[in-house]
Amino acid sequence: MNINDVLTSRRTIRKFKQTPLSKEQLLRYVGAARLAPSAGNLQLLKYIVVQNEEMTEKIFPLVKWAAYLASGYNPKENERPIAYVVVCADISVRQSGYDMDVGAAVENLIISAWADEVGSCWMGAIDKPKVEELLELPENLVVSCIVALGYPAEMPSEVEITNNIIKYYLNEDGVLCVPKRKFEDVLIKIM
Ligand SMILES: Cc1cc2nc3c(=O)[nH]c(=O)nc-3n(C[C@H](O)[C@H](O)[C@H](O)COP(=O)(O)O)c2cc1C
Repeated sequence: MNINDVLTSRRTIRKFKQTPLSKEQLLRYVGAARLAPSAGNLQLLKYIVVQNEEMTEKIFPLVKWAAYLASGYNPKENERPIAYVVVCADISVRQSGYDMDVGAAVENLIISAWADEVGSCWMGAIDKPKVEELLELPENLVVSCIVALGYPAEMPSEVEITNNIIKYYLNEDGVLCVPKRKFEDVLIKIM
C-alpha cells in the first residue's frame, strides 16, 4: 500500500485474529510514535508495550469498546487484542497541554501498524487509575490512552453520512459501518 492507501483504508478494528505480533513489529510501531512531531520538542510521551497474555487479560476489563453500539461490541474471547501500547505522559515535564503530542504520536503508531495490515483501536474510555496501578507507574507518569493491536478479524466499512448521524452501526450483514462526513462538508474553501 502506498501512504495514501494506508491513510484512507484504515478503520478502527475491535475484533482481532489471534495471530501473534513480533516484538520487532511492536517496537517499530512505537518507533514511529517516538518520531512524531512534539510541541517545543519536549517529547514527554512514554510507552509501555503489553504483550504477555497474563497482562493483556488484566488490561481487557479496564477498557470499553464501541460505546455507540447499544448491544455491546466487545471482542469475544478469541477476538481480543494481541497487544496493547499504553501511552503515558511525563507530567514532571509538563502537567497539561500535551494532547496534540498524543494525537500525533498515536496516529503515527496506528498508521505504522496499518502499513503492516495490523489493525488498531485507539482507546480513550479506559479506567486510568486502575491501569496506572496495574502497570505500577511512578508518580511522574500518567496514562493518556491505550492502543489495542492485532490483525483484523473484521473489516469495517466507511459509509457516507446521512442526516448528520455520526454514530457507527452494524448493517444487516453485521458489518460495522462508520459514517464519514462528505468532503464538501469539511472543506470550507480553497482560496
Ligand atoms: C481519542 C480517541 C479515543 C477513542 N476511544 C475509543 C474507545 O475507548 N473505545 C472504542 O471502542 N473506540 C474508541 N475510539 C475509536 C473511535 O470510535 C473511531 O475512531 C471512530 O468511530 C471512527 O472510526 P474509524 O477510526 O474507523 O475512522 C477512539 C478514537 C479516538 C480518536
